[in-house]
Amino acid sequence: MEKEALRVRLDYSNMMADNLPKPHGLSEYQITSFQVRTTQIHHDFLRRRERGEFAFMDLPLRKEVAEEIAQFAQSIRGRFENYVHLGIGGSALGPMALISALKHPYHNLLPQEKRSGEPRMFFLDNIDPDTFTALLDIIDVKKTLFAVVTKSGGTAETVASYLFFLQRLRAALGEKYRDHLVFVTDPIRGFLRKLAREENIRSFAIDPAVGGRFSVLTPVGLLPAAIAGIDIDQLLNGAAYMTRICQLETIAENPAYLFAILNYLAYQEGKRTVVMMPYSDRLYRIADWFRQLWAESLGKKVNRAGQEVHIGPLPVKALGATDQHSQVQLYVEGPNDKVFVFLEVEQFDGRAELQSPYSEAEASYLHGKSLNELIAAEKRATELALTQNHRPNMTFRFPAVSPFTVGQILQCLEIATAFAGELFDINAFDQPGVEAGKIATYALMGRPGYEEKARPMLELWKNRKEYVV
Ligand code: PA5
Repeated sequence: MEKEALRVRLDYSNMMADNLPKPHGLSEYQITSFQVRTTQIHHDFLRRRERGEFAFMDLPLRKEVAEEIAQFAQSIRGRFENYVHLGIGGSALGPMALISALKHPYHNLLPQEKRSGEPRMFFLDNIDPDTFTALLDIIDVKKTLFAVVTKSGGTAETVASYLFFLQRLRAALGEKYRDHLVFVTDPIRGFLRKLAREENIRSFAIDPAVGGRFSVLTPVGLLPAAIAGIDIDQLLNGAAYMTRICQLETIAENPAYLFAILNYLAYQEGKRTVVMMPYSDRLYRIADWFRQLWAESLGKKVNRAGQEVHIGPLPVKALGATDQHSQVQLYVEGPNDKVFVFLEVEQFDGRAELQSPYSEAEASYLHGKSLNELIAAEKRATELALTQNHRPNMTFRFPAVSPFTVGQILQCLEIATAFAGELFDINAFDQPGVEAGKIATYALMGRPGYEEKARPMLELWKNRKEYVV
């Protein structure tokens, strides 16, 4: 099929004053007045890219990385019954979004012969002891490959996860435990890289110039995707295609810039929450991934001039049609302080036809229809209800869910995030708020060298008055 026909498109009709009154709807002028600023940012991006910044934009072209990963995935095909991914934040959310969007929804429950050599895929991104111990009830570590994924190489949760399984691997396999490990980490620095070198463990590198939450198209996401049998070439092709589109500096032609501007304008109008609502189970985890990308990148205390601004839209995830029966009441009638982003699928892989043996109206109108038609109608109905109630909303329309379209949306949202960072005038690529929590954790767990750094926070805690019922 022609690439154009597989293009993910942004429909922003319901953001515009033609379809909902001001100040909720935007005029074309409000958008086009950003063109001068957009051109400036665009050229600044080009210069910064030449200096090696925004490395995430070049990832789709790094075919040699994909090639190496595909070879590794091929070399272990059929060897492991399970793949267990240990990582958190940017080292987990992208991979989970990929597997969830691009594999059979019940992949892990399929019988082995229907998985054609692909392992069951498990992602442990939280350190809940119950989840860890329970996994041991259903996997045999002797038949499992553990991927330890951490860019910094020392994140407490990931190192602890590794240690938990390492002792079991060693007990079960002796010196052969190494064959059951693969590391994804910084190419030079960090604890995990040191281990990979010293213990000769197979590893893949994350480009240090790519931030954690922008790393889904590095080995962080490509490795599990390839092991699960996803066409990573097409994933990268989709991302490359979107990168090309997003190299256009005219706002109306560039969905990433436009998305950022629409969100920025909505924020200025007091709509400080952005609800991403896929009408597709498979795309739900993309909303999860987006939450981190948008929140960690744009939620900042200081602007570029160092002034305290405490800025940032709140990304929230919802699922259609499920949340029509949970959240939509609030969305339609509660405070008009949100902007909505639907993810809509035009062509689902499956077709779920309905027949009704009943003459009663509650069921008969569904006869001859399908779940495909129903979910499309429900999305349209929510969109109409929101619009009628002056709630701005837009839709990313996927012709289908495929590696090519998923690659497009990931890249589009990453570019939009970088661009939104400029509009909000903050650094979208740091995360000092996350670091503070990491330091306190290290101090509480007795990691040497962190007591002093965490002292002010811990003092505050020690001196607090307790109120417990
Ligand atoms: O975006 C980020 O940088 C963070 O959310 C990280 O992904 C997260 O803290 C995990 O870090 P690491 O991959 O170093 O273990």
